[in-house]
Amino acid sequence: MPTATAISITFLFLLSITATVHSHNITRILAKDPQFSTFNHYLTITHLANEINRRQTITVCAVDNAAMSSLIAKGLSLQTMKNVLSLHVFADYFGSKKLHQVTKGSTSTATMYQATGEAPGTTGYVHITDVKGGKVRFTPEDNPSQTDSVYVKSILEMPYNISVIQISSVLQSPEAEAPTAAPDLNLTNLLQRDGCKAFYDLLTTSGAIGTFLSSVESGVTVLCPDDDAVAAFAPKYKNLTASEKTSLLLYHGIPLYNSMGMLRSSNGLMNTLATEGAKKKYDFTVQNDGNDVTLKTKVVTATITGTVVDEEPIAIYTIDKVLKPTELFKGEVVADEPAAAPKGAKKKKTTKKGDTSDGDADAPGSESSEDYGDDPADQTASGGGRLVASVVVMGFWFSWSVLV
Ligand SMILES: *[C@@H]1O[C@H](CO)[C@@H](O)[C@H](O)[C@H]1NC(C)=O
Ligand SMILES: *[C@@H]1O[C@H](CO)[C@@H](O)[C@H](O)[C@H]1NC(C)=O
Ligand SMILES: *[C@@H]1O[C@H](CO)[C@@H](O)[C@H](O)[C@H]1NC(C)=O
Ligand SMILES: *[C@@H]1O[C@H](CO)[C@@H](O)[C@H](O)[C@H]1NC(C)=O
Repeated sequence: MPTATAISITFLFLLSITATVHSHNITRILAKDPQFSTFNHYLTITHLANEINRRQTITVCAVDNAAMSSLIAKGLSLQTMKNVLSLHVFADYFGSKKLHQVTKGSTSTATMYQATGEAPGTTGYVHITDVKGGKVRFTPEDNPSQTDSVYVKSILEMPYNISVIQISSVLQSPEAEAPTAAPDLNLTNLLQRDGCKAFYDLLTTSGAIGTFLSSVESGVTVLCPDDDAVAAFAPKYKNLTASEKTSLLLYHGIPLYNSMGMLRSSNGLMNTLATEGAKKKYDFTVQNDGNDVTLKTKVVTATITGTVVDEEPIAIYTIDKVLKPTELFKGEVVADEPAAAPKGAKKKKTTKKGDTSDGDADAPGSESSEDYGDDPADQTASGGGRLVASVVVMGFWFSWSVLV
């Protein structure tokens, strides 16, 4: 039995790697045919393309440039455009065959518009009808009179991950086209929302906020310790030097947008805004634990407790504890045995000014506690770090496959 479990775990692990490698890229799929260039462009600027690439078992209904021009003529805001286009992404797989064989000639499917929660009631549903003469018609739930949108052809079928089809005209839904307020993507404002206020104050007084703001454009995930967590940490925070405070705060930012779904499916090491190469790793491990997403360092395990905002390119989550990087809290590293790091290690750390000596501060005495952890890569990386080890392993695989 244990062997069977080990094999299935290995299998799942390999499967997850394959999933990443073989995932679809809607931008690339549509780029093959210039008549979809406008539709493709709008999928990109509304960030729907990323959403589509992350999902499986979906159907994308593309329209050609002529059909898109009538939509563009309506002068909708980008956010409204996003709602309209998300109605064109079905949360189910419909290949050409399945479309032409819908049960009892008619079915309805939920779309990504429904999934966003933006659609009131069931307005995010689309009816698929097999009409006479082998035609398949698409009708938005809130616009039963639309009859001009029919199946044209299949662009790509990857059963049952993604089907991309062409339909003759844009699905017209009054609800999806209704003006929507653009989401507030002002990080300064978002961080001042409930639960993040104390953390926001630290960011502004330390000046670390600047790094967060300049990361917004390329995507950022903020892990915001809630007000109680910040209060509980205050005595320790006071003891840090100014540059250590900055590192600690930057440690709570990931220089990439991570939706909750992405965090749930990406167990492993995560770099932060404080990471500067191998010397200042400042990374932590994302680990899914049942329904919870936990963030682990060798000193503390924090749990994501809420979502303040999850709207590409910004994600802000509240966490129940301040994340303590190993680099700053060596003395608190949890060891397997009660024999924790020697007292000297902590003293040595706190008496050092600045952080240029970070790499050298690894007192031999604290090395044993450094080795704590269940990451297999840890065992192989005595000095270079786990990240480097994984890169080396991957590099080996690539060179191996090239050589063979
Ligand atoms: C998808 O393909 C486009 C065009 O080839 C490329 O620019 C983009 O980076 C790709 N996206 C991903 C996630 O690989
Ligand atoms: C669908 O995705 C799975 C992994 O998520 C992959 O193994 C499979 O090859 C994909 N199917 C196609 C037709 O690409
Ligand atoms: C965010 O909003 C504040 C006012 O609350 C404003 O001062 C600041 O310029 C805004 N930042 C951006 C990037 O729009
Ligand atoms: C802060 O530093 C002082 C002096 O080094 C020490 O006595 C105290 O225990 C430290 N407080 C905390 C919470 O680490």
